[in-house]
Amino acid sequence: MPTGNPNLPRSIGLGVSGGIAAYKAIEVMRLLQKAGFNVRVAMTKHAAEFVAPLTFRALSGHYVLVDDYDPSNPDPIAHINFSQEIELLLIVPATANIIAKFANGVADDFLTSTYLASTAPVLIAPAMNTTMWDHPATQRNLEKLRSDGVHFVEPVAGELACRTVGTGKLEDVENIAAQALKILGAGASTDAEVPETIEQDLSEESFLITVGGTREAIDPVRFISNRSSGKMGFALAERALARGAEVTVVAGSVSVLPPEGVRLIEALSAEEMFQAVKREFTAASVFVGAAAVADFRPAKSEGNKIKKEGRENLTLELEKTKDILAFVSRNRNPGMIVAGFAAETENLHEFAKAKLEKKDLDLVVANDISAEGVGFDTDTNAATIFVRDRRKGFEVPLMSKQQVADRVLDEIAVLRQNAASAQI
Ligand code: PMT
Repeated sequence: MPTGNPNLPRSIGLGVSGGIAAYKAIEVMRLLQKAGFNVRVAMTKHAAEFVAPLTFRALSGHYVLVDDYDPSNPDPIAHINFSQEIELLLIVPATANIIAKFANGVADDFLTSTYLASTAPVLIAPAMNTTMWDHPATQRNLEKLRSDGVHFVEPVAGELACRTVGTGKLEDVENIAAQALKILGAGASTDAEVPETIEQDLSEESFLITVGGTREAIDPVRFISNRSSGKMGFALAERALARGAEVTVVAGSVSVLPPEGVRLIEALSAEEMFQAVKREFTAASVFVGAAAVADFRPAKSEGNKIKKEGRENLTLELEKTKDILAFVSRNRNPGMIVAGFAAETENLHEFAKAKLEKKDLDLVVANDISAEGVGFDTDTNAATIFVRDRRKGFEVPLMSKQQVADRVLDEIAVLRQNAASAQI
């Protein structure tokens, strides 16, 4: 455990594993030092091939631990002393290999032994090739670590060292430092706090997003609707705005407020939503259909309230509504990205992939609305994102709707980058 001596600066253990992003750990260390923390560094052997331990030693003022059996190591039980002194173990960057070792309790070097020997919270910032990140083995290991209480700064989408574009890039160093300071809580002095900087990777985009449920009138009093709150669609709008996009939302019936800064168009019925989208979609570069649009509506809406007197039952004839998403996809300008959702209760992947094909989408977000914490009117969601031409879906485990939104937007950013590089 940390000594708790108020006269000594609080210590963070910075673990560096062997990836090309290892040099970014230096910047993270500098930000944490600026915030008043003492940083002790442990590296894997491979990390030491990317950045010399001497660099960290010079900048941290401490011996850098790679191999605790090394004769130059001044501390014979370093993994115990190191692990007990730190208040946070932060891994930057974390490779698929170190994640696998942590998840399985392998302790075959200093850093992995420290992970097991420490009771401090652990924050991991992964960075790796997209295929390695997407691999079920890596996803399984991440899941294990999450359920062990490990925190993550998720990697972002972008161009990777291997020259491919996809998810796997190390998050911005400022955000990593900010997350670390957040976990350390009140101890970080306010003037040392690192402001969150959000990459403006969508600043060239203009989003049109449908949000919420629709109301299909039976008569002036009654309607057919669904349980959509608008939380998922507004989360997408909020995150797209934060990442620099212009955002117009066509909102049906919602139970939460729209984020500040969006252009809001209200459209309660499927037909009103269709007309609003038809007017707006040519000005957009990205369309996302997050609304739960009624598939059917009463064929005839009565002008007056239907009376129950003289009736034992009432039969409503329903007719199909227009498919807004399919309309946009079919009539889009070249370059427009079109994304939809699939709300399913069975055969999630199969039905979602069928929607991707049939509506000719670039991406579909499949959510199993029968699962706990997923779908309608929850603050969280979980999904599988299927992208056109990509072999398998990308699993997004249960997380806040804002975080799910960011994962969806990451994929949209990748689609845009891929389209841009295809034109070069
Ligand atoms: O609003 P929340 O409470 O946060 O809930 C979020 C959500 C569950 C509504 C959201 O995550 C979601 O899944 N939205 C899509 C719901 C839906 O209608 O799914 P679907 O599988 O029936 O439709 C497929 C796609 O076609 C959707 O993108 C839908 O917007 C679109 N569609 C459907 C019918 C229609 N007439 N026009 C459409 O554009």
